[in-house]
Amino acid sequence: MCLDMGGMSCSKIGSRRCEAVASPVMAAPPQLISETEIRARVDQLATQIDEDYADVDLLVLIGVLKGSFIFLSDLARKLSVPHRVEFIAVESYGDRQSEQPESVRLLMDVRHDIGGEHVLLVEDIVDTGRTLAYLQRLLVTRRPASLKTCTLLHKPDRTEESVTLDYWGFTIPDVWVVGYGLDYAERYRTLPYIAELPPEMR
Ligand code: IMP
Ligand code: MG
Repeated sequence: MCLDMGGMSCSKIGSRRCEAVASPVMAAPPQLISETEIRARVDQLATQIDEDYADVDLLVLIGVLKGSFIFLSDLARKLSVPHRVEFIAVESYGDRQSEQPESVRLLMDVRHDIGGEHVLLVEDIVDTGRTLAYLQRLLVTRRPASLKTCTLLHKPDRTEESVTLDYWGFTIPDVWVVGYGLDYAERYRTLPYIAELPPEMR
């Protein structure tokens, strides 16, 4: 079988061998929040953020890697307020099953000083709230002019830490979700919608 290469026949693709590439077909997990719903909510959030920061010269958006990169890129492109994009990366370690609570560790810091800046931390999801609590504690020590948080998703039933959420897209039940930046073991991140990943698909 020959793969469809935009109408090019095999003879036109030079020395590339023409053969079927066996790509594993991943079944799509069931949709929880559609692309249309996400787009509409991102628009609303951007409008609200624009209003709230109307008097600010520059807003620093800090995306928490990796999960927030798609949400951040859509949100940033909808904002009218002048902004700069930064990234920070963290990881959780420990064992969800054990008595020992998970801890958060910094993998990559922002590149610029945020002292005196208006900072909006952009997260994919607030689950236990440990990541956000850690980041809020860390960033406040750098003395920003203001520090607010925006998360696409929030699982209030799982949140243990007292964290301040200034903006959030959707509250969801205690299920594992993937897509629109969120993954399960690095899979499903680029699904265009948010899906609930049933245990049998993990
Ligand atoms: P925390 O428990 O609020 O600290 O969340 C830790 C991190 O776990 C989040 O930033 C996500 O990267 C990840 N996470 C938590 N729940 C989910 C989920 O349902 N899907 C994908 N990632 C999740
Ligand atoms: Mg995250």
